[in-house]
Amino acid sequence: LTSCGKGESGAAAPGGGKTIMGFSQVGAESGWRTANTKSVQEAAKAAGIELKFSDAQQKQENQIKAIRSYIQQKVDVIAFSPVVESGWDTVLKEAKNANIPVILTDRAVDSTDKTLYKTFLGSDFVEEGRKAGKWLTEESKSEAGPVNIVELQGTTGSAPANDRKAGFAEVIGSDPKFKVVASQTGDFTRAKGKEVMEAFLKSTPDIDVLYAHNDDMALGAIEAIEGAGKVPGKDIKIISVDAVKDGMQALADGKISYIVECSPLLGPQLMDLTKKVLAKEEVPARVVTEETTFTQEQAKKVLASRQY
Ligand code: AHR
Repeated sequence: LTSCGKGESGAAAPGGGKTIMGFSQVGAESGWRTANTKSVQEAAKAAGIELKFSDAQQKQENQIKAIRSYIQQKVDVIAFSPVVESGWDTVLKEAKNANIPVILTDRAVDSTDKTLYKTFLGSDFVEEGRKAGKWLTEESKSEAGPVNIVELQGTTGSAPANDRKAGFAEVIGSDPKFKVVASQTGDFTRAKGKEVMEAFLKSTPDIDVLYAHNDDMALGAIEAIEGAGKVPGKDIKIISVDAVKDGMQALADGKISYIVECSPLLGPQLMDLTKKVLAKEEVPARVVTEETTFTQEQAKKVLASRQY
């Protein structure tokens, strides 16, 4: 575990000393995640909160270990972005029994006991999937079909993979011309996105559209598509989620067709919520991040000013 954020004027902990937050991050699987880590670390420093940070390398057992270690260290608050949705009740009960408040950031857990955490800050992933589906239905409205879609899913069992799949399916499901001909996980990474897209291109003829649950997998898939002698954005339209710099560049270059934004800049809101929770102030059970969408033309205009 690493520590940072020991500023001079720290936020006061309930006991009087400086507030200590234990933060368990999913990993470093994507450009989004790197930007999210930076946002949390910088915001902690600015808020005078001491941050104990651990990277779970996309493994739930590592996150559970980190949370237990934070409980043992008697931190003031635990924040984490759960790699998958299920299997958290036991460790969350341990935190509750130790009187350590937990804040979920970015991803949800499926615990039915909502008293196990104070609030959940992050995107509406179902809505992101719907936005992707709406663009495609609009884009293909003059086509008779079939429109053959391949899907690169995020990490199996994670909230963004489950929800982005569901939101997209809900919208395209009303028109039978849309056919999801292959759907597999690419674990939110560029390498896996490339590998799975290569397999799709071999096994699945006539792919019209790729729906990738994040930009990194789309960027990996672009390499696979170009390697197969096809033109990304033309032969195969690509929709992805996040709007990180490299994704936005590919969108401006015409290789990606449309991106649904998912903001990783959660740090400042997380620190504000932390201060309120520790001051025993009311916080909303759910705080949804504000996000937009980008066409190729819009990407060209905003590319230079993107923060991540
Ligand atoms: O939970 C957010 C998702 O996780 C991002 O969309 C993806 O890039 C990241 O790895």
